[in-house]
Amino acid sequence: MSVNDDNNTAVDLALFGALGDLALRKLYVALYHLDRESLMAPETRILGLARQEYDNDAFRARVRDALETRVRADERTEESMNRFLARLDYIEIDFSSPDSYNQIAQWHGTSAQPLTIYLSVPARLYGEICANLSQSGCLDNESRVVVEKPIGYSLQTSEEINDAIGAVFDESRIYRIDHYLGKETVQNLLALRFANPLFGSQWNQSHISHVEITVAETVGIEGRWGYFDQAGQLRDMVQNHLMQLLCMIAMDPPSNLDADSIRDEKVKVLKALRPFEGERLDTDVVRGQYIAGTIAGKSVPGYLEEEGANVDSRTETFVAFKTEIQNWRWAGVPFYLRTGKRMPEKLSQIVIHFRPQSHYIFDNDQRSMAANKLIIRLQPDEGIALQVLTKDSGLDKGMRLRTGPLHLDFHQAFPSARIPDAYERLLLEVMKGQQYLFVRRDEIEYSWRWIDQLIKGWEARDIMPKRYPAGSWGPVSSIGMITQDGRSWYEDY
Ligand code: BG6
Repeated sequence: MSVNDDNNTAVDLALFGALGDLALRKLYVALYHLDRESLMAPETRILGLARQEYDNDAFRARVRDALETRVRADERTEESMNRFLARLDYIEIDFSSPDSYNQIAQWHGTSAQPLTIYLSVPARLYGEICANLSQSGCLDNESRVVVEKPIGYSLQTSEEINDAIGAVFDESRIYRIDHYLGKETVQNLLALRFANPLFGSQWNQSHISHVEITVAETVGIEGRWGYFDQAGQLRDMVQNHLMQLLCMIAMDPPSNLDADSIRDEKVKVLKALRPFEGERLDTDVVRGQYIAGTIAGKSVPGYLEEEGANVDSRTETFVAFKTEIQNWRWAGVPFYLRTGKRMPEKLSQIVIHFRPQSHYIFDNDQRSMAANKLIIRLQPDEGIALQVLTKDSGLDKGMRLRTGPLHLDFHQAFPSARIPDAYERLLLEVMKGQQYLFVRRDEIEYSWRWIDQLIKGWEARDIMPKRYPAGSWGPVSSIGMITQDGRSWYEDY
């Protein structure tokens, strides 16, 4: 099935955790936009499932509130809101009571629309919910399940969760969300790399000297201390989002755009990632934890002073590392990655540094300028810039060079196009039954394998996070890690 197939089928979507944060912040908004843009089949129905005592009217009123807060006024009309809300039903359910599930079976009835289960609940409940669904008899071969991260805490725990889901749903029916894959600009990496021969031919160790990936956030823990302190930035961001970005940048061209062709190539990257051993744990990885500081002129507390904090916590809120992909395409090319909370700006950016010209004919003092960079800005201000060298203009300049961008700003280039939220794309693909933007079980597990050995190394060497002030780019040693190679993090655009 091609990713462009317009096989957008009607589904019966049953949403567990229907009154939770993710549902109210993201999911109804995304579904509403799909409906408004006529991307949702008219027959699609949505069932909210949660423990709270609500009826259909109260549930619809709650969702209306959420939409009024989060959808721009010029993107909603009474008619579009009412049409969407009319799709919603609600059932109060005790997730652990098998009997309650008969109500889902009754709601789905004899409908031919695939029952699509969305689990917006903690992963520890996935197994029990899947087993109860199976027992209630409401599932058939067409049923699908959508699950959110984090899937586990380690390879072993993720295997347990995947086994429990897999006991009920075939892999071809499981949609594991990594919302970064739903971002328009992340999908654009496929187009950029594989539709442009100019880049395709240069995308290897002969032409690229190194690659940087930065995913910086200004937010701190936002009331999620309990969850976050168990996870840390490595599990919360690297295991999933950064690994997916790395795969999209480094994978070989898939033979077509089928889900498995793409995912097979991503798995090869994860398998080829060099593990951290010995000294490299000290030199090539930096763990950090923020202390109080200032972001955009506002003082913010340190991690250990956040609400609910355990003052002895050693959890990292920042990770930077240098890694290698041990294969023909990338041998000898360092990949520098970093991600952190409470950084000076929200920025997700990939920078591809090309090798300099080998035979240099310009003034020698300009040699250090002599390399092209491709900067892919995922958020905010989505766009792509290619830094090229041109002659500086003016009669007095001779053949002096200057760096300038060839710049594609998506907002300017496509002013009428709204950049959809990741969840719109992902929910649309679930309804179409397309899996290419979802993570296959082996991707998650190879990623955990790599993360687990890093955590083991940290534990064995008792590596403590280094402090960095909120509003900075992380511990000084994360800068040292790249400058010792004669390079620096690229922060301009
Ligand atoms: C989530 C993490 O998966 O991604 C959060 O759990 C993080 O800690 C968020 O803040 C970042 O997503 P985005 O789309 O804002 O970059």
